Amino acid sequence: MQDAKEEIKARLPVEDVIGQYIELKRAGRTLKGRSPWGVDKTPSFMVSPDKGIWHDFSANKGGDIFTFVMEVEGISFREALEKLAAQAGVELKQYSGNDKKLAEHKKRLKEAVELACKYYQVCLSKNKPVCEYVFYRRNLNRKTAVEFRIGYAPKGKDYLVQFLTKKGFKLSELKDAGLLNQYNGDLFRGRMMVPFFGNSGEIIGFTGRIIGDGEPKYLNTPETILFNKGRFIFGLAQAKEFIHRSGYVVIVEGNMDVISSHQAGVREAVATSGTAMTENHLKILSRLTDDIRLAYDGDTAGIKAAERAISLANNLGISLKVISGYHGAKDPDELIQKDPTLWQKCVEECEPAIDWLLKKYEMQLDLTTGPGKKAYSDIAMKMIQKIPDSVERKHYEKLVAKKLDVSVEDLLSKKLPLEKTRLKPIKTKDLNSGGTSLDRNLKALQDNLTAIMIYGGSAGGEINLELPEDETKIAELELIFEREYSKLPEEDLKREAKMLLTRYKREKNQYEIARLTKELENAVDDEEKTADLLRKIQILRKS
Ligand code: UTP
Ligand code: MN
Repeated sequence: MQDAKEEIKARLPVEDVIGQYIELKRAGRTLKGRSPWGVDKTPSFMVSPDKGIWHDFSANKGGDIFTFVMEVEGISFREALEKLAAQAGVELKQYSGNDKKLAEHKKRLKEAVELACKYYQVCLSKNKPVCEYVFYRRNLNRKTAVEFRIGYAPKGKDYLVQFLTKKGFKLSELKDAGLLNQYNGDLFRGRMMVPFFGNSGEIIGFTGRIIGDGEPKYLNTPETILFNKGRFIFGLAQAKEFIHRSGYVVIVEGNMDVISSHQAGVREAVATSGTAMTENHLKILSRLTDDIRLAYDGDTAGIKAAERAISLANNLGISLKVISGYHGAKDPDELIQKDPTLWQKCVEECEPAIDWLLKKYEMQLDLTTGPGKKAYSDIAMKMIQKIPDSVERKHYEKLVAKKLDVSVEDLLSKKLPLEKTRLKPIKTKDLNSGGTSLDRNLKALQDNLTAIMIYGGSAGGEINLELPEDETKIAELELIFEREYSKLPEEDLKREAKMLLTRYKREKNQYEIARLTKELENAVDDEEKTADLLRKIQILRKS
């Protein structure tokens, strides 16, 4: 498969593939265009034909032709591969020898976990105390238990292993399916079993909850060729059609929250199972809907996780909503046990993530004090700055200004510690080529100074240049700062800044003189203009 990928890449220039979707303009060794995800005002989508890659500085994503087609069309890798193979005239079959073997192996593993699931289901039906736990303590009803295929892994060394080897499975296959512990015995013992469903409803792994108390509370299938936890979304197989129908998705923390939520009629619930939210999770969900509602636990860990998810989403240009306040319950499951309709209400009463965050900081900080106001406005403005829509941004600026009892102008005149944009390094040379009227020397000086102004802390205090708006430019400046100045001690950096500033002023002066002199040559017939130009040049010479 790797070979097929390489062959296709070799045949299809990256700029041709991307050029089918967006207009690209050459800028030196790279090409630029507008982000197909529509979050940039200036062209911040870059393609490097040399490297065969693209990078979207506004949406902060990038990759090769395959990831581009996957992202822009919202299709799987396989689909992108087939599409591009057809364009390139590459026969995939030719490369599928290894693929076939892998597919065969996968099929065996799927059969093993499917059988394991059936086995667990039977074990549950035969175990009265565990049925107690599932149907009374956890309050699941029959329908839910059947739909989510809840089971029980019996306590014992190797019940499942014995069962599956009798059915003809090799130990190596069970190992690859993630069913064995390090001694080749059953991985799951004495646990309520909840299977993980893949995209087509097939089983790809499990999570097992201990019955009662014990450690670890949940045990999950390790990474296998069937189960990739960074991509897997628990409950999505069941929730998908409901997400389509109602136009939103609810992300909860726990798998049991998902199951309870479905039972309570909120069938749009999913969870990232046993792992923190990743970009992949968000990307997968954002393809389904742009109304993504977070319903994390109300404890400190849950709030932390929510903040993390929000900032992750921000980087991807996705805005989240937050569901909170579970009427005293610690998580959605607990709330549902109290009253399912309360949960339905909570889901409806979601709010934009930024409102939730602002309220939270408002409670944490003392807004009657100067330092409290400063801290609050620091955090608030950092978030507000990132809002792409100007009307929405204004709304929050007004809101925050009111909270602080200052005018919006006061708020906006605040000097913010500029956040470093996390971007992949790109050669400054590539980025510098957008020609301006300033000569190259002067432009380089200006870039270095602006870089120190933005990233150099107090060393940049004396510099007063215009802040570039273009994100790629800011990234470029960061790169410059990183490479040239980040290792300098503060005093040295201050000295350097001073020296650069002097040089810059001198160069700029000379540049201006040269420009005016040229104008003078063209103005020989115009006495008035000549006089004016001469006066200007003299002033420049003196300064
Ligand atoms: P919680 O401890 O909040 O789970 O962990 P919960 O859903 O409320 O569990 P119950 O109601 O006590 O049964 C949230 C999620 O974190 C993962 C699981 O995916 C769980 O659903 N987790 C938790 C683990 O993977 N391992 C653990 O030991 C604990
Ligand atoms: Mn719980």
